[in-house]
Amino acid sequence: MTAQLIDGKRVSQEHLEQLATQVQERLAQNLRRPCLAVVLVGDDPASAVYVRNKKRACEKVGFESRAYELPATTSETELLSLIDDMNADRDVDGILVQLPLPAHIDSQKVLERILPHKDVDGFHPYNVGRLAVKMPLMRPCTPKGVMTLLAAYGIDPKGKKAVVVGASNIVGRPQALELLLARATVTICHSATQNLAAEVAAADIVVVGVGQPNFVKGSWIKPGAVVIDVGINRLDNGKLCGDVEFDEAAERAGMITPVPGGVGPMTIATLMENTLKAAQIHDSEV
Ligand code: GUN
Repeated sequence: MTAQLIDGKRVSQEHLEQLATQVQERLAQNLRRPCLAVVLVGDDPASAVYVRNKKRACEKVGFESRAYELPATTSETELLSLIDDMNADRDVDGILVQLPLPAHIDSQKVLERILPHKDVDGFHPYNVGRLAVKMPLMRPCTPKGVMTLLAAYGIDPKGKKAVVVGASNIVGRPQALELLLARATVTICHSATQNLAAEVAAADIVVVGVGQPNFVKGSWIKPGAVVIDVGINRLDNGKLCGDVEFDEAAERAGMITPVPGGVGPMTIATLMENTLKAAQIHDSEV
């Protein structure tokens, strides 16, 4: 392997330590302890793990956390009513509804019910729009976490050719907006892209989020490129792997994120950052 490993675990831990200090400073000023409410509907095992990790991160930085674990049979009306209650609750700073939701619930309707200032996931169209017009407020956690990781390794996207593989609302689209904001020349590739290998081969920075193991081949990577793998896939043997052929890509890339220990921990650290920001906005409204 010739590429330098980008250590998301280390960067996220440093980030969480800084946030913990800021929480202590708030408390010393008699400001409220920030509070994140996390809602899980149903019993998807991967979602349960993500929610547990979010709760642990809250404890680490000194936030209060509230967990709502609702049965898969919860109706859309019941979920919307819980969100209304949390929107009105002065003690709740951030609201996160873990996706995916059961099929009978309209996810977009649910996400749009969360007050934009409490939308710590950054998924409300108001927050997506703010990012699109260069005035970000709550920024989607994974793409913002990727930007923090790039900055921690001295990688400035300005003027670089960035290729985002995957056009999802959670990763690809907001990632492209983040890279554009950082003044990269951005291409978004998706399932109708004609020559994916050629697009990836032209990239100085590649960010991949498609949810398919080894989807991007190592041989496509431009020598010296920065490879950011957002995918977390569980193989039949129980092992986790990303969306990029890691060993082959690491022979060509200049820097690369591992899976696990790359982008994943940065998503959670950014969620904590957004929750603190939500608390600061909340304070200024009092
Ligand atoms: N499911 C997968 N990723 C995410 C995320 O970042 N936020 C939420 N709410 N659900 C998810």
